[in-house]
Amino acid sequence: MAMTQTQILFPDENGLKRAAELLRSGALVAFPTETVYGLGADARQGIAVAAIYSAKGRPSFNPLIVHVADAEQAKRYAQWSETAEILASTFWPGPLTLVLPLHDGHGLSSLVTAGLPSIAIRAPAHPTAQALLAQFDGPVAAPSANPSGRISPTTAAHVMAGLNGRIAAVIDDGPCAVGLESTIVGLVNRPTLLRAGGVPTEAIEAALGHALEIGEEGNITAPGQLASHYAPQAKLRLNATEARDDEVMLGFGDVPGDLTLSRTGDLAEAAARLFDCLHQLDATGRPIAVASVPHTGLGRAINDRLTRAAAPR
Ligand code: TXA
Ligand code: MG
Repeated sequence: MAMTQTQILFPDENGLKRAAELLRSGALVAFPTETVYGLGADARQGIAVAAIYSAKGRPSFNPLIVHVADAEQAKRYAQWSETAEILASTFWPGPLTLVLPLHDGHGLSSLVTAGLPSIAIRAPAHPTAQALLAQFDGPVAAPSANPSGRISPTTAAHVMAGLNGRIAAVIDDGPCAVGLESTIVGLVNRPTLLRAGGVPTEAIEAALGHALEIGEEGNITAPGQLASHYAPQAKLRLNATEARDDEVMLGFGDVPGDLTLSRTGDLAEAAARLFDCLHQLDATGRPIAVASVPHTGLGRAINDRLTRAAAPR
């Protein structure tokens, strides 16, 4: 693909105006959300959406998440339901994506949904994401801003490391607070957890008043559901208590490491640090040993990412 100069923008008035202008012109702009940096394109322009797939080197059958300011906007693209209302009013803006039937006359590129009759949609909480959506005043399709199959970016530097020269701009607004992608709940049939993420499953179940169904892996072609997604180049060994041979160690709680997800065993801190730690350890070129992380709350999403990163490939 053609190389372009990637502009680094700041989240001030000029930067946001420029970013919105670039999106309108069909260019790609990476921007911060509370979860990870997204690689944004105007969701109505097929060519722009196609450019996302080529910049990421992503298999084109993977549908993307559409970002909107709020539930009012979401209703233009998705068929709303009582359950959608409960979840959106509890967790939006925030790290929750809803998969809903597409609304007639939605006007979105069919590449966004990969031709599915449903749409994945969310209202991000990050003030800069919100400011960009307000300035752009339209739906923004955005997967994580990393080359396909690689670790998700939680800083603008991560974005540049993977996509410099392949996208028009990145808005640099520091590290992402949550550090894990959004939780995805399918509402096309019974409420189904399609991907663990930034909102703990327990919180969603509490809001619904019942348990979620668990999505079939590979049921829908969700890259978050492909076994070796989120992979660093290095080999990963999980549930390690200490480094062996030439491994570098990622610690958690009482288990120390070259880096630690959280010395105090705080799962929110661990989630926020996960991808950055993997980026840093991967850069050493050595295999990575990872301490075990409890499988509760955000720990489920962390373990999901770690298991995929460790999957044979
Ligand atoms: O936190 C996040 O969700 C980040 C930020 C940028 O918002 N975005 C993100 O997007 O993680 P991406 O493209 O890496 O993941 C999109 C996920 C995939 O697992 C995809 O298959 C699923 O959403 N998805 C999209 N449309 C779907 C649909 N109609 N049905 C089921 N899954 C869908
Ligand atoms: Mg991704």
